[in-house]
Amino acid sequence: MIDLSKLAEPGSIEESLVEKIDFQRMPRHVAVIMDGNGRWAKQRSLPRVEGHRAGIASVREIVETSARLELGVITLYAFSVENWKRPRYEVATLMMLLKEYLRKELATLMDNNIRFSPIGRIDGLDESVQRELRYAQEKTAANTGLLFQIALNYGGRAEIVDTVNRIMTLLREREASDFAIDEEFFAAHLYTANVEDPDLLVRTSGELRVSNFLLWQIAYAEIHVTKVLWPDFRRKNLFEAIVDFQSRDRRYGGVDEPDSRMWVEADSHGRRQS
Ligand code: IPE
Ligand code: IPE
Ligand code: MG
Repeated sequence: MIDLSKLAEPGSIEESLVEKIDFQRMPRHVAVIMDGNGRWAKQRSLPRVEGHRAGIASVREIVETSARLELGVITLYAFSVENWKRPRYEVATLMMLLKEYLRKELATLMDNNIRFSPIGRIDGLDESVQRELRYAQEKTAANTGLLFQIALNYGGRAEIVDTVNRIMTLLREREASDFAIDEEFFAAHLYTANVEDPDLLVRTSGELRVSNFLLWQIAYAEIHVTKVLWPDFRRKNLFEAIVDFQSRDRRYGGVDEPDSRMWVEADSHGRRQS
């Protein structure tokens, strides 16, 4: 049971937003492109890395709130395969902050029954980062609540290529010469095998692009873009995203009832009727 008192203080803006949420129609998987840390710092005449540092508080609040909302999965995009292009100091600081976060937050993840799982080309990260990731993953492996995926050294195209290579290896091992795969088989070999696709994709800082995130999985995700910069993104902004999500009409290429039956009939005769 969701404990509403843990989501908002009485009389707060948060409470008024929580009241608008329909708990019967929650997104099960929310994916977030955490963007705008650099701009947040720039607005304050601070170095970019201060934006990353400030962004940790948002990560903490959003992960904890997702657990309290009893979402199934939250996936946060923390470092893309393209982000290696950034200055060496910025990359090193991001990795240092990640290690610090994992060390400090492990107890909270355990308290909230959260299972932690990194996705991406993890073996391309520094050994000291890999160690912390493995430790957090192993410690939380038996937790049964929220699945918290963090995308690191992640690229959507890289994931698709890695998946194709994985499948080719598998087929070689099986000495299969005559084969055809389907979407289900392909999806079962992605980094996110066994994880349902995101229902809601949030991007902060107003940028209207996907930046190589979960390209396969977001095929039918609803997209919520907010101008709020990641270090300012708090639970009220997550509630707003969910309220926005619930206002959408998800059709998956079909049409709304009751007309849909008529169309199916018309289509099965190969004719389009109006
Ligand atoms: C997002 O913030 C964090 C990462 C990509 C690691 P940015 O660092 O991209 O911030 P902006 O887009 O420059 O404001
Ligand atoms: C996307 O943000 C990657 C992450 C949030 C980790 P970027 O700031 O790297 O994306 P672009 O450069 O604006 O597309
Ligand atoms: Mg950015």
